[in-house]
Amino acid sequence: MSTAYKVGRREFLGDSAWIGAAALATDSVFAAERSAHDDARTSGSPTMAGFAAPPMERIRLAFIGIGSRGTAAVRRVSRIPGCDIVALCDLRSEAVDENQKWLNENCPRHKVRNVYSGSQDCWKGACDDSAVDVVYVAVPAYLHARIALYAMNAGKHVLVEVPAANTLDDCWNIVETSERTRRHCMMLENCCYGQDELLAWNLCHEGVLGSLSHAEGAYIHNLTERHLENSFRNRGKPKRSSLHGNSYPTHPLGPICLYLDINRGDRMNTIVSVSSGSFTWKDYIAATFGPDDWQTKMVIDRGDINTSIIKTARGRTIMLQMDFTTPRPYSRINLVQGSRGCFWGYGYPARLAVAKKPGGEIGKAWMPQKEFDKYAEKYRHPLWKSVGEIAKTIGGHGGMDFIMDLRWAYCLQNGLPLDMDVYDLASWSSIVECSRNSDIAGGAPVELPDFTRGAWKTAKPRTIGDVDLAKMGFNLKAPVKKDDAQLSV
Ligand SMILES: NC(=O)c1ccc[n+]([C@@H]2O[C@H](COP(=O)([O-])OP(=O)(O)OC[C@H]3O[C@@H](n4cnc5c(N)ncnc54)[C@H](O)[C@@H]3O)[C@@H](O)[C@H]2O)c1
Repeated sequence: MSTAYKVGRREFLGDSAWIGAAALATDSVFAAERSAHDDARTSGSPTMAGFAAPPMERIRLAFIGIGSRGTAAVRRVSRIPGCDIVALCDLRSEAVDENQKWLNENCPRHKVRNVYSGSQDCWKGACDDSAVDVVYVAVPAYLHARIALYAMNAGKHVLVEVPAANTLDDCWNIVETSERTRRHCMMLENCCYGQDELLAWNLCHEGVLGSLSHAEGAYIHNLTERHLENSFRNRGKPKRSSLHGNSYPTHPLGPICLYLDINRGDRMNTIVSVSSGSFTWKDYIAATFGPDDWQTKMVIDRGDINTSIIKTARGRTIMLQMDFTTPRPYSRINLVQGSRGCFWGYGYPARLAVAKKPGGEIGKAWMPQKEFDKYAEKYRHPLWKSVGEIAKTIGGHGGMDFIMDLRWAYCLQNGLPLDMDVYDLASWSSIVECSRNSDIAGGAPVELPDFTRGAWKTAKPRTIGDVDLAKMGFNLKAPVKKDDAQLSV
């Protein structure tokens, strides 16, 4: 009998407060409960696996949340032929005004008909707008699920930033609502479209690495000062600051799930998760504010680094880390290994080792650069061959954000399934709650729900194809300008 926790409905005594880019702050107290979970919640609706909406010649979009991430998205999407930005929404009217002004001056073909701002639920107007087909949601994470659910019920397809949901209930609700309404709900996991990530995907699927056994990923991004600012200053003077588990798992996990065909031939079964003590946080706060400051006296219960291990149904393992705190250089690790070789995307430059036969010895060194370059050229993903240079110029985390936007636009325009479906959204986001439960329970194994309800066993493999820029209506001779609003890290 399994000893893993079945994760039940959460009992929050406080609420998660996800603030800013990395959405970290919580002062919640969580009570994990050992109970039968309805993780095979029945659905009267057909699966969304392989779902394709009828082709949309023109995609009429509303952007909800146009702060840092949303503004960059408005500018990228404004360049995609066939995408019409018809509505803008943000709590802050100045964000709406700035984006509208930018569109008028730089891309006047977009006729923004309606703007929504000024109240906490102004996004409902954008979701109810009959001129809108798709909502692009880039508000703080605690609002993602609420808006996604409302928008699908209003008949809109949804593209939503990461993580799409912070609770298992929200994951299930999004799955069930997508199935019932027959609306796409895709999480905008841009890291799946990185040059190295798509190279690794090709290496895995062309069999270069052999039978895959293990992958490692991380979100290591030293944001201590920003989080301190966001976490404490705007929230009164809390006596305690807690964070358990991995609250931002999808950047490393998304690509790994593509490599391992999660939800399409394998699935994530269980997770164990542990956090270190809060050494850096405490030192940082004491060094910044001095021994008598209220912040130094606060109980800090948020580990410097969280490490989780996931086991899949087919017996593969995934190591995930999250560290927003220590002065450790940025990394997503991005490692995948199999019986024939190993790819490591965050060695700068990426590295590869390939044995002559399964299990063959490769010595201590990675492949020399020249040899790696040959593999990289041979297995470069078609998307990076065809639009890599344009994407790099426009920017957005080195171009991957633009490639992601191109792909969903191309798929919607041509009536194709999206690369990432609602089951990917739910299973990747479910790590937030399940890792937290495991961490609180001292690293006990926690079962991960099967949002596909068994369909992973027979689901067709994922295809991430190319886009046809000429068919999309791109003027390939027009010069491409760099956009300074795009994020680089
Ligand atoms: N994929 C990535 O690489 C990446 C990078 C950074 C952030 N993110 C995610 O993107 C999301 C947005 O992050 P950001 O850095 O742009 O944050 P931000 O604070 O710069 O922008 C959020 C915007 O949402 C608006 N907003 C807040 N409440 C609202 C409401 N009730 N109705 C309408 N608008 C509201 C705010 O006014 C703000 O303009 C977060 O969920 C974050 O996790 C993803």
